[in-house]
Amino acid sequence: MQLKSLQDAELKGKKILARFDFNVPLTKTEPRTITDASRIDLAIPTIRFLLEKGVSKITLISHLGRPDGTVNPKYSLEPVAKYVAQKLGIDVILSESAIDNGVKNLLQLPETKIVLLENIRFLPGEEKNDMELAEKLSQYGDIYVNDAFGAAHRKHASVYAINNFFKNRAYPGLLMKKEIDSLTSLMDKPAKPFIAVIGGAKVADKIKTIERMMVMVDTLLIGGAMAYPFLKAKGVTIGNSLCSDEDVSLAKHILSQDKGGKIQLPKDHVVAETLEGLPEVCIGQNIPSGKMALDIGPETLRSYGEHLKTAKTIFWNGPMGLFESKNFAKGTMGIAKIIAGNEKCFSVVGGGDSVAAVMASGEADKFSHVSTGGGASLEFIEKGELPGVQALKGL
Ligand code: 3PG
Repeated sequence: MQLKSLQDAELKGKKILARFDFNVPLTKTEPRTITDASRIDLAIPTIRFLLEKGVSKITLISHLGRPDGTVNPKYSLEPVAKYVAQKLGIDVILSESAIDNGVKNLLQLPETKIVLLENIRFLPGEEKNDMELAEKLSQYGDIYVNDAFGAAHRKHASVYAINNFFKNRAYPGLLMKKEIDSLTSLMDKPAKPFIAVIGGAKVADKIKTIERMMVMVDTLLIGGAMAYPFLKAKGVTIGNSLCSDEDVSLAKHILSQDKGGKIQLPKDHVVAETLEGLPEVCIGQNIPSGKMALDIGPETLRSYGEHLKTAKTIFWNGPMGLFESKNFAKGTMGIAKIIAGNEKCFSVVGGGDSVAAVMASGEADKFSHVSTGGGASLEFIEKGELPGVQALKGL
């Protein structure tokens, strides 16, 4: 079944219940402030669209962090309420709890336009996909809008069970629609050559995505900590680089399937003795003992760049090294710039760290699509569907 379009919904005068993914990084110390608001910024057009269509009220739902069903002020949505209010230039009232009676009273007041429910994961029912919680939430709206692509792989009450109470009245938000459309174009008949760049830390977390990608792509460029189990599996020495035995055996399994030799591994590295150590280029694949690789080397960047310049479709997930430290950021930033420079290709980047790297590179607007979903974008690629999206089409 097709996803409905929010543009086709009768919205005038309606009360809207809308799920967003406002799970944004915050400073560790008080006062907690948002360090990267991209996820909120990308959802704002949906709220503006609803307001322009003359809805009467909007109740916003989101999670933040993983408070595991208990109230923890560290994960309060207060900074989010402030930020959204400032962005929209309208008051945003933060409720004390997602299901207290006060919310209904607030929604009765003529002056209330937008209410943000406090972190939905403060309630144990959310992650249990609890029907009772979903039913209570459903009383806040005539129409349900899900714009939380980043949480669409979670079968949670405000993402999944809630759809039971909005038969034919559930719509994807504008961001959700864009995410699904972009990832679908990537997976359905991608223009060739199709090249994937996969980095990040754990092979175990991404094995299914790698296996799926191997069938579809012409070349798979592996970098970051992901590369060392693969190198070790091929008998290369990796010094003190990050690597678990489980990942080495998974890498061996993947390499044994790579009959056409699609996988490319780093040819050189930037290494140091510690994470804070001085960077030094290690020529060749073997890493000496006592050193750990923390970025791809210049020859690898050049060679990966040659591949990427010819691509017509690119998917990127996971950084090429410890890019948070400027000593080890050249590989990741270099890849961002090379992909951004290939203006004729359809390029999608997904996953928290690689998106942060693209944002930091200042090249985000040159990508065809920057996905707000980490786990969600990987699961969509692996399975071609997500529970939260499936539920929107009808349970
Ligand atoms: C994310 O950050 O990927 C989403 O907000 C989902 O968060 P979760 O992994 O805690 O469910």
